[in-house]
Amino acid sequence: MAANKKLLMLPGDGIGPEVMHEVRRVIDWMARRRAVSFDIAEDLAGGASIEARGTPITDGVIEAAQKADAVLFGSVGGPQWDKLGFDMRPEIAILRLRKELGLFANLRPAVVFDPMVNASTLKPEVVRGLDIMIVRETVGGVYFGEPRGIETLSDGQQKGFNTDVYTTHEIERVGRVAFELARKRGNKLCSVEKANVMECGLLWRQVMTKLGAAEYPDVELSHMYADNCAMQLVRNPRQFDVIVTGNLFGDLLSDLASMLTGSLGMLPSATLGDVDAFGKRNALYEPIHGSAPDIAGKGIANPIAQILSFSMLLRYSFGLDEDADLIERACTNVLASGLRTADIMAPDCAKVGTHVMGEAVIRELDKQAA
Ligand code: IPM
Ligand code: MG
Repeated sequence: MAANKKLLMLPGDGIGPEVMHEVRRVIDWMARRRAVSFDIAEDLAGGASIEARGTPITDGVIEAAQKADAVLFGSVGGPQWDKLGFDMRPEIAILRLRKELGLFANLRPAVVFDPMVNASTLKPEVVRGLDIMIVRETVGGVYFGEPRGIETLSDGQQKGFNTDVYTTHEIERVGRVAFELARKRGNKLCSVEKANVMECGLLWRQVMTKLGAAEYPDVELSHMYADNCAMQLVRNPRQFDVIVTGNLFGDLLSDLASMLTGSLGMLPSATLGDVDAFGKRNALYEPIHGSAPDIAGKGIANPIAQILSFSMLLRYSFGLDEDADLIERACTNVLASGLRTADIMAPDCAKVGTHVMGEAVIRELDKQAA
């Protein structure tokens, strides 16, 4: 296969570069053994970019991301940049990428791998076999709504304010992504908002109901208030198949759901844009975990979420399902063999660092392909 697939890697800060290093080895393996190759460019984002270039992400990097077929993102942030002004924070890198690439649908799977069923803080019988997908809207809602700001009032007090806002079009396009996904999975979609207190949520519910009836009558659609959804995710998470929700509720609920699986270090995500006139779809893949500055540079971070983000990239951007399956199977088998990084360490398992874990995935890939 020709190397015409353009991949931009943005390792970012903290453990980002360490775990990305292990992905590089998986990419090399794919080129060697499966003839799947990429034109790879690597660049700076987040704190690393602030240090080198004085801004969380340059226009040049945004442009490169727009031109790439897919972006593989690590993680950004760290305590040394916490005091910077709002527009200068490392997090601006990911927010700008989402906004300027039109990446409106963030897919966050929460899957309990069988060998990991005891890692959850919930009882094994509650989470065994869990496989849910949260679809979070990521370019609208209260994250970007106007007006926003901090103002000083005439009496000297200050007022901080943000606006939650969704249009019919914004709800429909993320709704369609969620309905399509549900069709390929368990055919159940739960739409989440606060229609009981927010107009924005009420419109969300009306638009989703109409969309379901008009275009997806075969998918079982339900609605839930966001607070109840948080409760239900802990009470009986397996009742869900696909969940679709706005930016802020999606941020909270996806963190909650990921913890049902016992480790943030295991979970990838994909953020997708619309398909353009040339059939190209902007897409960014990143682990759900953050930059974990407390363990950065120690060689103990779990590389699996970053590796699985690459497998999502193969699946969603290039339709390489077989190769994605291969990587996912390799990761599951490595866990079944009892290897664990510190974050998922369990009794009777062997504790290993980032590099040994990456090495084990490569060896398992060799076995699978033999
Ligand atoms: C996430 C993160 C981001 C968000 C931050 C880093 C801006 O929490 O991807 O969930 O709030 O969206
Ligand atoms: Mg978050």
